[in-house]
Amino acid sequence: MRLVLLGPPGAGKGTLAALLKESLKLVHISTGDMFREEIRNKTQLGCGAKLYIDKGELVPDEIVIQMIEQQLTNNSAVGHGGYMLDGFPRTCKQAEDLDRILERIQQPLDYALYMTATLPIIVQRLGGRRVCRKCGALFHIRNKPPLKENVCDNCGGEIYKRADDNEATIHTRMNVYVNNTQPVKDYYKNQGKLKELDGDKESDEVQAILMKMFRDK
Ligand code: AP5
Ligand code: MG
Repeated sequence: MRLVLLGPPGAGKGTLAALLKESLKLVHISTGDMFREEIRNKTQLGCGAKLYIDKGELVPDEIVIQMIEQQLTNNSAVGHGGYMLDGFPRTCKQAEDLDRILERIQQPLDYALYMTATLPIIVQRLGGRRVCRKCGALFHIRNKPPLKENVCDNCGGEIYKRADDNEATIHTRMNVYVNNTQPVKDYYKNQGKLKELDGDKESDEVQAILMKMFRDK
């Protein structure tokens, strides 16, 4: 199965992707995670992307599309069991270019999962989110605290707060989302591939609803 996960910051895209990775054995491709890895490794791509990410703005389309194209064409695991694109596409240009790439490699998308979430929930989630520096596992100081403070339950790595999870940047990310990413919803609606999910619900419940949608399709 080939999926894209759309939705505002904090809707739970990464959290749902981690669950689907287990249950459906899909490769998880997150452009945000890829950029953070590049930033950690201080690559040229990472240094360039950081200028945008720290402000909550989008990295230019050409850079993101090139990065995704490399993943989809060079990662052999992607061709086998399918994948989830998390945080991509985020503009209509990215969605159109993705379709062109997928047509060329003959791997059309099955569904676009659009996760909604209300603003108070988004602010609460992003304010309390913590991430493992080593394996990327997601935690939350209240909703999902690690067993040992600042230590990842999965790999023992150090847990940190993302630099863009501060009030001012969250505000910019929300505006960018409304202006640039929300229109992508209609792009997939017109293709008949859109499925909407209520991201305010508990993540296990969201996953159960989605699995039922797949069964009933
Ligand atoms: P990215 O990393 O994709 O960030 P985002 O879209 O802002 O989304 P988040 O990762 O913040 O939220 P999420 O929906 O994954 O929530 P999560 O599951 O972690 O992108 C970062 C930046 O990179 C962008 O701003 C941009 O600059 C750049 N970028 C990336 N892709 C790009 C592209 N295609 N084009 C251009 N630029 C791009 O959950 C959040 C918290 O809530 C966690 O603590 C979690 O434990 C908790 N939680 C989640 N779900 C639930 C639930 N159901 N119940 C209770 N708690 C929950
Ligand atoms: Mg995420």
